[in-house]
Amino acid sequence: MAPLIPIIDKLPSREIVLAVLLLFIARFSHSYLFRNRRPLRLPAGPKGWPIVGALPLLGDKPHEALAKMAKQYGPVMYLKMGTADMVTASTPSAAQAFLKTLDANFSSRPKITAARVTYDAEDMVFANYGPSWKLLRKLSSLHLLGGKAIEDWTWVREQEVGHILQAMCGISSRGKPVVMPEMLSCTLANILGQMIFSRRMFEPGESSPISSRTLWWRISLWQVVLTLEIIYRSFRCWDGHSIECHRMGTCRVVSILNRALEEMDKVIGRERRLYESDLPKLPYLQALCKEILRKHPSTPLIPRLAAEDCQVHGYDIPRGTRLAVNVWAIGRDPETWENPLEFMPERFLNTGKSAGISPWGNDFELILFGAGRRICAGMRFGMLLVEYILGTLVHAFDWNLPNGAYELNMDETFGLTLQKAVPLSAIVSPRLSPSAYVPYPI
Ligand code: HEM
Repeated sequence: MAPLIPIIDKLPSREIVLAVLLLFIARFSHSYLFRNRRPLRLPAGPKGWPIVGALPLLGDKPHEALAKMAKQYGPVMYLKMGTADMVTASTPSAAQAFLKTLDANFSSRPKITAARVTYDAEDMVFANYGPSWKLLRKLSSLHLLGGKAIEDWTWVREQEVGHILQAMCGISSRGKPVVMPEMLSCTLANILGQMIFSRRMFEPGESSPISSRTLWWRISLWQVVLTLEIIYRSFRCWDGHSIECHRMGTCRVVSILNRALEEMDKVIGRERRLYESDLPKLPYLQALCKEILRKHPSTPLIPRLAAEDCQVHGYDIPRGTRLAVNVWAIGRDPETWENPLEFMPERFLNTGKSAGISPWGNDFELILFGAGRRICAGMRFGMLLVEYILGTLVHAFDWNLPNGAYELNMDETFGLTLQKAVPLSAIVSPRLSPSAYVPYPI
């Protein structure tokens, strides 16, 4: 190396030459060190654009765009998303390979920007798989979301549903439309407020100014609510129902609603409202809720992260790759579902083809709540709320669109969860005995 030094000294930019030399050394030592390594066999996927990769291909409904691409590239697909690598699973067997066979390796979540709002990604939803996440899960199962806790809080849910019924009756008597997400958010915030802070947070339909102390409580509650994602999910279920109403045409909607009402009138009658203890006797209502969530899952893409290098379906998945399990595509997989685009609650009834399929994480055809160790911590609570609130509202009121309208705006927005862009607003009229519309049933 000695004779080189004087030459470098004479060159105009010694730094440039040194940099080139270093680059060569790095290049050769890299090929020497990794010469026995075979090239990675990544799953197929769209090429995308320079620098940003496949990001512009996702549009405003990534779950739909990804499902479409998966038809071309296969159930396990690889995409470069800016600087991140991403892999998608779009069929039940692909989801099973990640969430069951390799569950331990995919038990953390990518740190997306939204996660920073939730205690800087240290909450139960976004925390890395480890001791503090395990503790949070244990505590929530014990005090909030486990079977015993759900049972203990039955009175709170029944009382809050009574409040919303009373408020809706009041709005209806004034001939005004009810804005559903507003109503539901009050009810759900009050249920959580009672469970966590032992106090109610909102009065459904209230417009009076609030004190700064109440405001503080509400802000704290909203952070908890955001963390638990409950409100977004429950809006979604109601919206899913209305979307179906629109797409199916009046006759089919009427026949589905009539069948649900017939079942409820037979089991409950018209003198009282629905109680949670009625739900096991309402198989059609349960099938209806499953079908709503199959076609309109509130979490269309489940985010996970590869902790180590691994292989799936014969492909290499490098450590740090993001995983998106496309629940939306799986719920519409034509290999799994008969007429997947049709809304048929009967498919989940005893005589139906999908009767045995349940959403609790073992049947990968219907992973509404995910699967494996990061499965939804509130799945029993969530399903109960959907069945109970939807059932109550359908049983308690006749529903019509304001101003005699027939068409609903059905646009969806993709965010933390999938929601209806324009909130559902409806004119309701009570169909039960007046004593059914009070918070504290006699
Ligand atoms: C219909 C209602 C709901 C649906 C469809 C739903 C769906 C989901 C899904 C798909 C996941 C990701 C699971 C995975 O990664 O495998 C999840 C996670 C989670 N959900 Fe739910 N959820 C619902 C209601 C609720 C409710 C009511 C709560 C609590 C009050 C809740 C709390 C959570 C939590 C804490 C996680 C994160 C679990 C973890 O990472 O360990 N969810 N949910």
